[in-house]
Amino acid sequence: MTALDRLESREKVTGAARYAFEYPVDGVAYAAAVQASAGRGEITAVDAASALELPGVLAVLSCENAPRLSSVPDGELAVFQSRTVSYRGQFVAAVVAETLETAREAARLVRVEYASEAPDVRLRADHGGLYKPDKVNPAFPTDTEKGEPEEAFAGSAVQVDATYTTPAEHNNPMEPHTTIAQWNGDGSLTLYDSNQGASIVQDTLAQIFGLGKEQVRVVSPHVGGGFGSKGTPRPNAVLAAMAAGAAGRPVKFAVPRQQMFATTGYRTPTIQRVRLGADAGGRLNAIIHEAVEQTSTVREFAEQTTTPTRVMYQAPNRRTSHRLVRLDVPTPSWMRAPGETPGMYALESAMDELAVAAGIDPVELRVRNEPDREPESGLPFSSRNLVACLREGADRFGWAGRDPAPAVRRKGRKLVGTGVAASTYPAYLRPNRATARAEPDGTFTVRIAASDIGTGARTTLTVIAAETLKADLGRVRVEIGDSAFPAASVAGGSAGTSSWGFAVVRACEALLGRLNGAVPPDGIEASADTADEIKARDAYARHAFGAQFAEVEVDVDTGEVRVPRMLGIFAAGRIVNEKTARSQLIGGMTMGLGMALLEESVMDEEFGDFLNRDLAQYHVPACADVRSIEAGWIEESDPHLNPMGTKGIGEIGIVGAAAAIANAVYHATGVRIRGLPITPSCLL
Ligand code: MOS
Repeated sequence: MTALDRLESREKVTGAARYAFEYPVDGVAYAAAVQASAGRGEITAVDAASALELPGVLAVLSCENAPRLSSVPDGELAVFQSRTVSYRGQFVAAVVAETLETAREAARLVRVEYASEAPDVRLRADHGGLYKPDKVNPAFPTDTEKGEPEEAFAGSAVQVDATYTTPAEHNNPMEPHTTIAQWNGDGSLTLYDSNQGASIVQDTLAQIFGLGKEQVRVVSPHVGGGFGSKGTPRPNAVLAAMAAGAAGRPVKFAVPRQQMFATTGYRTPTIQRVRLGADAGGRLNAIIHEAVEQTSTVREFAEQTTTPTRVMYQAPNRRTSHRLVRLDVPTPSWMRAPGETPGMYALESAMDELAVAAGIDPVELRVRNEPDREPESGLPFSSRNLVACLREGADRFGWAGRDPAPAVRRKGRKLVGTGVAASTYPAYLRPNRATARAEPDGTFTVRIAASDIGTGARTTLTVIAAETLKADLGRVRVEIGDSAFPAASVAGGSAGTSSWGFAVVRACEALLGRLNGAVPPDGIEASADTADEIKARDAYARHAFGAQFAEVEVDVDTGEVRVPRMLGIFAAGRIVNEKTARSQLIGGMTMGLGMALLEESVMDEEFGDFLNRDLAQYHVPACADVRSIEAGWIEESDPHLNPMGTKGIGEIGIVGAAAAIANAVYHATGVRIRGLPITPSCLL
């Protein structure tokens, strides 16, 4: 088993690794953005006079003078293209100045007037505007149905009918969404940008500014986190490019943390009703999972909240659905395991309620409902080791002999409980291209525009390339994070290593096939494209699975929940680099702990926009919140995936973690909390 530090770890800890904002660019100016103070309406006037009087201000941009963009694929990127305000906090103007301080001060002086109306920002299950979207992210059917779910549920010996809610949650990467934009003499555009896919930013910006793809270069070798919020280009890239054009200078723009809550994406709040009907032995006869979520008036984003329910358990009668309402809010988007994370919180909480109602151990209940094929598609699983994860986890956690009675274990002032939940995430694979070069000095260079957003992707790809080339790691250089390299898919959907690695393997194999004898002075290069091979794969249901266990202590006087222990056991195909894999998994589990107990974005129902402005108001777990947290995996060899046999590990760690904690809170206290986060006031 390989356990390697990140190859760039020394650069990162010494500050030598360059992030987007840090590129030295001659003559650079700074941008600061103005956010809408109306929740919905029209801009009637923009008065930039006092801002422009401030010494050092170079330009003020707004709907009144911004250049027309060529073609905008995502309404959130139509920066300053219209007088319409779609939500409070939307960017409505920007100042470019000699210094960041001047730009920020001038942004404060820009006066924008509105004809405004009261915004509609509250998600409710009885909202009159609820509708059925055509599909859910990225292209799943909105609703599915098999058998007679209502009748089967009504006739079931054991029933659970419960509604769970999750709040809006915000991706808060340490590095904000940042771009330096520079227009070159030949009309081309260079961006130093923080993103999860340089090729995607390149394509999108080329389209928006009416350029050829080859006229846009996006440089992003190091990225300080994204969690999905940098998976699609954000307004910062468009704003910086526009500002650089207006100022005739390169421009730096980083979205301040205070502005991220309105402008860089978030997880939709959800209201989910789950109905489970089972026989007295806990065998499911009906599963009904209905989700209500929000989108914006700018663009439709329909989270695939109930799709994991189509995968998890056997039951002849079943239905899943998604309903959406367009509110005057920013457009929700990807946040670590969009869909699976809130969906599995609800399903796995309901499974725990079923275990209690049927008097069956919750591990055993899940084992009893294990399907032999994917329940809705009927496809065989390429591999499915949920039961092995549950068994191994139960063993390591010390589950055997657990007393199911709630609220009976005391440790001083604390009530103690344990909980379990299952986890799943699809094993996606996207087409990619890569090149591999043999250099005359005996080293190899592999290039692909992949992104390392802190995951260790660069290191993992180097392991994969070295193995294929049968070369020592030290002889292999993997270059990523630059749109000048072969186009790559997004660092998202837990598909990075699998998708990029596949192309890297094929490029290295092609190179080996061409190596015979000495390498000429200009090297030998080979390239690969995996599109055809991926298209030709056999039909299988491909998913990773896992089992999450948690122990909680609940203070009977304050209602505070602490989590002394979390254990996750996963089955995710081959693990390429043990060290960075563990970091991904415990990172996901920690984020699940945040979801369970801390994270909540609060909408201002009168004025619109989220009230949270920083990490003092948006709580994420700190080291003191995370005590023993262990991730492990079972050996899983799956020949139906890709040449490496990997399933992806970026997201499965968060899935199910919140349910395991919520289930442990029930076991500790006897109180079933059906809305996250579980704050002290929920329990008092
Ligand atoms: Mo992840 S939310 O698929 O970037």
